[in-house]
Amino acid sequence: MAPAAAAAVAAHATGMSLKIVPSLGKSEFVGTHVAQSAASAARVVPRANLSARAGGYEEELRQTAKTIASTGRGILAMDESNATCGKRLASIGLENTEANRQAYRQLLVTAPGLGQYISGAILFEETLYQSTLDGKPFVNVLQDQNIVPGIKVDKGLVPLAGSNDESWCQGLDGLSTRCAEYYKQGARFAKWRTVISIPNGPSQLAVTEAAWGLARYAAVAQDNGLVPIVEPEILLDGEHTIDRTLEVAEHVWATVFKYLAENNVMFEGILLKPSMVTPGAEAKERATPEEVAEYTLKLLRRRVPPSVPGIMFLSGGQSEVEATLNLNAMNQSPNPWHVSFSYARALQNSVLKMWGGEPANADAAQKALVYRAKLNSLAQQGKYEGEGETGAQESLFVKGYTY
Ligand code: 13P
Repeated sequence: MAPAAAAAVAAHATGMSLKIVPSLGKSEFVGTHVAQSAASAARVVPRANLSARAGGYEEELRQTAKTIASTGRGILAMDESNATCGKRLASIGLENTEANRQAYRQLLVTAPGLGQYISGAILFEETLYQSTLDGKPFVNVLQDQNIVPGIKVDKGLVPLAGSNDESWCQGLDGLSTRCAEYYKQGARFAKWRTVISIPNGPSQLAVTEAAWGLARYAAVAQDNGLVPIVEPEILLDGEHTIDRTLEVAEHVWATVFKYLAENNVMFEGILLKPSMVTPGAEAKERATPEEVAEYTLKLLRRRVPPSVPGIMFLSGGQSEVEATLNLNAMNQSPNPWHVSFSYARALQNSVLKMWGGEPANADAAQKALVYRAKLNSLAQQGKYEGEGETGAQESLFVKGYTY
């Protein structure tokens, strides 16, 4: 069918009016619904409700999300891209080779007893297809530890043209095919991280783009059986107050939920990965864990429906102890959702240092990982009492951090 004729048929079906521009032989939508004549109205076939949701995986998605959001457990984020993993390895004097990345990830996933505190592990694509040196696929190692394997599916951040030096997140092209392949390989949840910068605005363009991208990704992931982690990271960078962070976070999450709903995403089958509401990393006034908890819970109560099973916070550059203290403060009274962690830096920092690339240190490094996971497990239940740790710990904040 000629394009103009096809457009006319489509316009008729949707009740839009179509105007042919004779001089150009092109058509353009007038864009308003027109009153149809009695004759054409009689020909209109009533439209079926075609809203397809979660591609038939509804029950499985609910179950996966519930398993990950189970009492006393959280997520180990170990999905650093090769470039970011290279920076971590460089910090302990190791080269960024596949063998070194494999060795480090093997150390993490094989830590004995990890599954008691960790319900899910987010992997980078390379790791999803790797095995231990004696040939056991990492996916099976995780499953045997009762840990659900997950996969980072976004393709990273690039400059957002037309914005105030902000970014947008790529990865929608071919996403459905990739998700189907990851599911076959054993992944059951996915992660897409985009960022919002407070000092750079944020512009409405950046917020809309971030929220729309997250919603499209979430719909596609659910359609392929993967529980989407929805992560609009509001970066810590800046000198702003905690009140300003709350204001931006409310706007961002309102936009994210608007588009999640418009895209028919099933809220029972998603997990959120928000930033905690804190002052900017360079702000003079710091906030106590109680203040962070008060502001963050205010945000969540105002914006997140109780049908969402789990809120799995990122650490965003907080020190290990700070991230645990803040999580603990948020779990001092019951919440409608499972409030837990999905930390990368705040779970891995001591582990990496302890290991230092030396096989002889692997055992101690694994113990450090399980210990940190245990403290966050206590915090998930509101039972962390400091355990002799001090809050004055090395900050893990990196300006303009990418993943
Ligand atoms: P951090 O806990 O280091 O902020 O990790 C963020 C993240 O998105 C990991 O998946």
